[in-house]
Amino acid sequence: MSECRVPRRRRFLVCEPRHFAVQYAINPWMHPDVRVDLDLAQRQWHALVRVYRDHGHTVDTVEPVAGLPDMVFAANSAVVVDGRVFGSLFHAPERRPESPPYDTWFKTQGFDVYRPENVCEGEGDLVPTGRYVLAGTGFRTTPEAHREVQEFFGVPVISLTLVDPYFYHLDTALFVLDEENIAYYPDAFSPGSREVLARLYPDAVLATREDAMAFGLNSVCDGRHVFIAPEATALAAQLEARGYVTVPVDLSEFHKAGGGIKCCTQEIRS
Ligand code: ARG
Repeated sequence: MSECRVPRRRRFLVCEPRHFAVQYAINPWMHPDVRVDLDLAQRQWHALVRVYRDHGHTVDTVEPVAGLPDMVFAANSAVVVDGRVFGSLFHAPERRPESPPYDTWFKTQGFDVYRPENVCEGEGDLVPTGRYVLAGTGFRTTPEAHREVQEFFGVPVISLTLVDPYFYHLDTALFVLDEENIAYYPDAFSPGSREVLARLYPDAVLATREDAMAFGLNSVCDGRHVFIAPEATALAAQLEARGYVTVPVDLSEFHKAGGGIKCCTQEIRS
């Protein structure tokens, strides 16, 4: 029997893909010789923003900067819990210049921004659940950054090791349904991390590799609606059976850079 799921209004920060492109390769999805259809990317991105607003969520935008083709992936810019902003320090030199414009945006909105000492890529790898911060490492964010995050927020950080380069960020392999539960793709994790997840979330929704490769785990859930890639059909069916309402949003152009719905969405929790 499915439960009645109640949505909670969210505040999101996004960045228009005006300068979006695939110009370098820092994950296995990126092939600089493959053309991005910028027109289509813009339409897909505007549709995502429209869908969020239609569902009652607040969407803020940061001005895109020319020469920063991955800046559209707002999730990587920070992680925000209780109005406290833990900024980013990108692994790839190509992405390092993205941090200052995001920091500036947060500051003009009245937030202090903590500048980390260790490599960390915001909500790409640092996923607040309400009880914990689930934290990915293996490709980008370092275990030292996990400790820095725990010290900063005073929230238990659960370190999880990612092992499959296609799922180089935690938010490509896992998303939060509510404080109690998550959905994830087990094989993206080391055996020990799989055990940790099974222990913490015995009732989790487990996705297949097909769902994960379709960016189905790069979803955003507001407690009731799951904004999800349309090709992740098996995962969507499982979520519907649990009482969630799936809302398909196609961001196929962004998959060429290794990103999807969640990557384009920074959540501001205050
Ligand atoms: N091309 C970007 C990178 O490899 C994609 C980032 C996707 N963001 C995310 N939150 N997973 O860094």
